[in-house]
Amino acid sequence: MPVRLKVINLVKHFSLGRSGVARQKYFLKAVDKVSFSIDRGEILGLVGESGCGKTTIGRLLTKLEEPTSGKAYLDEKEILHQKFGEFRPIRRHVQMIFQDPFASLNPRFTVGQLIAEPIRNFGLANTRADVAEKVTDILTQVNIASSAVNRYPFEFSGGQRQRICIARAMVVKPKLIIADEPVSALDVSIQAQILNLIKELQDYNQISMLFISHDLGVIRFIADRIAVMYSGQIVEIAQKDEIFLRSKHPYTKLLLESIPRIRKKQRKQDDRKFKGGSVTNGLMQSSIGCSYISRCPIASDRCRVEIPPLIPVKANHFVACHNHDLEKKGSWSAYILDQLLRRQIAFRRFGLIFKTFWTDSMFRPADIPPRQHSVRRYIR
Ligand SMILES: Nc1ncnc2c1ncn2[C@@H]1O[C@H](COP(=O)(O)OP(=O)(O)OP(=O)(O)O)[C@@H](O)[C@H]1O
Ligand code: SF4
Ligand SMILES: [Mg+2]
Repeated sequence: MPVRLKVINLVKHFSLGRSGVARQKYFLKAVDKVSFSIDRGEILGLVGESGCGKTTIGRLLTKLEEPTSGKAYLDEKEILHQKFGEFRPIRRHVQMIFQDPFASLNPRFTVGQLIAEPIRNFGLANTRADVAEKVTDILTQVNIASSAVNRYPFEFSGGQRQRICIARAMVVKPKLIIADEPVSALDVSIQAQILNLIKELQDYNQISMLFISHDLGVIRFIADRIAVMYSGQIVEIAQKDEIFLRSKHPYTKLLLESIPRIRKKQRKQDDRKFKGGSVTNGLMQSSIGCSYISRCPIASDRCRVEIPPLIPVKANHFVACHNHDLEKKGSWSAYILDQLLRRQIAFRRFGLIFKTFWTDSMFRPADIPPRQHSVRRYIR
């Protein structure tokens, strides 16, 4: 499939002001040399803990923030370094769906006006009748009654408001949609409906999508590929199944481990036997070496001095970790040791039962009834 969006070395540093005797300037690396691509009609899920820079990437791609450096190409046209006027035609093709549908809709406009606005702005209809027809059409597609055009956003439920936001984004037939946690403010039953709606419309119109979320269940449902972000950097990127079944980065494994399991069987299947680390502050960045080092259970000396580059470990599977194959290397020895320990325990237990049985039947005093005493009393 042809590449629709290509992001190369995207960087965003936020100024934290000056401090100290030398009045040194401090910066927060919200996005640090991020590169990825999205194909036509593909959904790339972007996951990571709070504060890792997911929203900032979305805001940079929609020009709501200016990048510090880096480039992004939409159908081979550079989009980040255009002047305000030049970005206008591109804006039609890069739409955003926000987390809070109420905050992203102007409360003074009716639903009809809200959806007609982008149609008029981008000159997609010539007459009033054309505009009205397009509004009715998209409202039907998102399951909102066309009679609701004269109602205001506050007259709708959260789920309905998000449907209106989706309609506003889809009505201009964009090439790329950045969906920033579009279902996290909704309850679970509504989440499923909205996710189905997004997937249906995206698939039908072959729109590329960057779907931002911290919920791996949602990402598993909707995404084709997944990029895992930590502290402003992408640490792993691969096809959805590859991430869920054969993830390589310790942070991805930690994220997968933190999904709550309901069924015991399911828990056992997904048990990755990965211990260590915790989900804490993602802003503990290290200027040299790996940014995950303070939380990594398999860190080595090399991790302290060398930043791990995002390298391919398989076709379409990229990982930024020096020790991504450590678990594999150590697995056989760990397995044998584990098995030996288990056998030793089993032998000891067997010996104990045998000894108990033997002493119990041979040397029990005749006046003590056998079942009233604990077996331990007879073991010396
Ligand atoms: N305008 C700003 N000025 C200064 N710092 C900012 C600004 N916007 C974001 N940041 C900082 O950049 C970092 C990344 O923020 P961002 O909103 O991208 O995180 P996120 O991954 O979307 O988190 P969440 O999952 O909570 O939405 C945060 O530490 C945040 O405080
Ligand atoms: S590079 Fe080192 S510290 Fe970073 S995730 Fe890999 S093993 Fe851990
Ligand atoms: Mg965010």
